[in-house]
Amino acid sequence: MNDFLWKKTTTPTAPDEAIMAFLAGEDIVLDRVLLLFDLQASAAHARGLKRIGVLTGEELHLVEDALADFARDFESGKRTLGAEFEDGHSAIEHWLTDELGDLGRKIHTGRSRNDQVAVALRLYMKAQLADLGDLCAEVAGVLLERASAEAELPFPGYTHLQRAMPSSAGLWLAGHAEAFIDNLELAQHTRRWLDASPLGTASGFGVNLALPRQEVAEDLGFSRWVVNPQCAQNSRGKVELQAIGALGAATLDLQRMAWDLSLFTTQEFDFIRLPERYCTGSSIMPNKRNPDVVELLRAVHARIVGSQVELQGLLSLPSGYQRDLQATKPPLIRSFEMGLRALRLLPGLLRDFEWRPERMREAITAELHATDRATALAASGVPFRKAYQRVSENLDGNGGHSVEQSLRERISPGASGDLRLDLLKERLDQFCQENP
Ligand code: ARG
Repeated sequence: MNDFLWKKTTTPTAPDEAIMAFLAGEDIVLDRVLLLFDLQASAAHARGLKRIGVLTGEELHLVEDALADFARDFESGKRTLGAEFEDGHSAIEHWLTDELGDLGRKIHTGRSRNDQVAVALRLYMKAQLADLGDLCAEVAGVLLERASAEAELPFPGYTHLQRAMPSSAGLWLAGHAEAFIDNLELAQHTRRWLDASPLGTASGFGVNLALPRQEVAEDLGFSRWVVNPQCAQNSRGKVELQAIGALGAATLDLQRMAWDLSLFTTQEFDFIRLPERYCTGSSIMPNKRNPDVVELLRAVHARIVGSQVELQGLLSLPSGYQRDLQATKPPLIRSFEMGLRALRLLPGLLRDFEWRPERMREAITAELHATDRATALAASGVPFRKAYQRVSENLDGNGGHSVEQSLRERISPGASGDLRLDLLKERLDQFCQENP
């Protein structure tokens, strides 16, 4: 391992290998995910140092060029972040010092790894939440398109998993679409909420330099900066929790949708056929065609909830930086990697699954018209409770209504006769314009 940033000339012995591996082992792997953000923030910090005269213009150019080279080489695989470094922050200073000598040793003026990691994490979360927003928008778009094409396709509506009323494929599709528009809004809202730069708060107490914090925040694309250095440290983990919360809203809906799809694809329901590429076979039963992908999509949310619980547990801490905070990185990064990977599979699945209209129609048996019949009687003046009783005495007929007719007549706004897809589209478009 390289020398530690914190190694002093007075440090008597080299740190114990096992202890260092415990401190840094998993962390260095996660820092690979954060490194490009760390390099970006390091360049902005250097520009801030130039503004206050700590670096000259010439020095800044050298530092900026070196940081840009590191980013390029890291992306191409030429430069790696290995176990020889304690963390990504140390690696950046080591690399700069290797390239530029004493100039590289200037980069840490006025900053601490505490604000360095916090800013890299905020940049990471902003990027992830933007991706989450894009995916929610894409999912909602696919669902709305199908809802409009299949608005009148009869589909049995269930409550308690018992047949309830005639409904439409359009209502099911638009229902999930609206949920994903909500999730898009939440992703954007959360992104805005955490869009504040902690850089320049150093170890949690500020420094005796007039750091241009606002300019550096703007340089990094933040809309504001965390003013109080203690708050910047105390917000670590809390911000992550909200970011995972926004992701969790989407994976909760994903879980429910995957549940529906796995149920509808059973031989018992048989309402849909999943695209072939989303299905697997059995190693022993030649007859099987299994919805494994849908089931694993359903499983994602439980694991996101596990990350939330893990984070909550970690945050029982006093004010200021504590090394426990390092342990907030695994649940955050794991959640976004897993959650976004799952959501990326959703548009293809939703675009390509097929309905089985004849099976759906068969399941809309006469008694499902009971509520519409009672409501029609009530509309003609019969008190609803009496109408309810009258219909309950004879559930056999459909009141002379075809399924199509009953779907068309369900005109309460939002229902199958008036899905108001225009409103959903409008809201989706509005949020899509806002997503960065
Ligand atoms: N890996 C550390 C973290 O994620 C970096 C900050 C280390 N700071 C310190 N004071 N030891 O929190």
